[in-house]
Amino acid sequence: MSNFYKKILDNNKKWVDEKLKISPDYFNNLAEGQSPPLLWIGCSDSRVPANEIIGAEPGEVFVHRNIANMVIHSDMNMLSVLDYAVNALKVKHVIVCGHYGCGGIKAAMGNSSIGIIDNWIRHIKDIYRFHQKELDAIEDETLRFNKFVEFNVKEQVFDLAKTSIVQNAWNMGQDLQIHGWVYGLNSGYVTDLGVNFNCDKDLDDVYQLKF
Ligand code: CO
Repeated sequence: MSNFYKKILDNNKKWVDEKLKISPDYFNNLAEGQSPPLLWIGCSDSRVPANEIIGAEPGEVFVHRNIANMVIHSDMNMLSVLDYAVNALKVKHVIVCGHYGCGGIKAAMGNSSIGIIDNWIRHIKDIYRFHQKELDAIEDETLRFNKFVEFNVKEQVFDLAKTSIVQNAWNMGQDLQIHGWVYGLNSGYVTDLGVNFNCDKDLDDVYQLKF
């Protein structure tokens, strides 16, 4: 058994001990059920751990992660997580959290074929095309990369707002706010990008569903 593998099993035992020291019923209480106020849609990147960043305990965040924190409206995995979070758990907030230095975004800026992931990255390339004029005008590559990360988060928040699940919730008067964040790998801080929705009125008319 590798040292790393042994270490993570040991870590688990220590973690259980620590939690039980604070409250002997810690896990019994968690086993009763969950009602997290937040759904987190983030990048799979190992440096962006949802709970740790926002100081959330088990039971406080429902999490979906994929490469480059994408909200792709034909992705059954994302739709199932979103549906369960909104309709069963009744989360109050959904945060799409991207991060500077995202490998998925970087790949979308380039031309190298990496494999099957090319098809996932394609969705991100489309976002480059939507904002090509503004992005191409940024000469500094790092600044252009950062801006692309931000554009991607904003677009995913819009895509979230366009889903039938979110629009149906708003139509029923459910209190549901969606937000876009970007996380700084260098600083640890998140920035709220100011794309906050709690209704569909800011969506282009063609996307507004009537129920
Ligand atoms: Co990433």
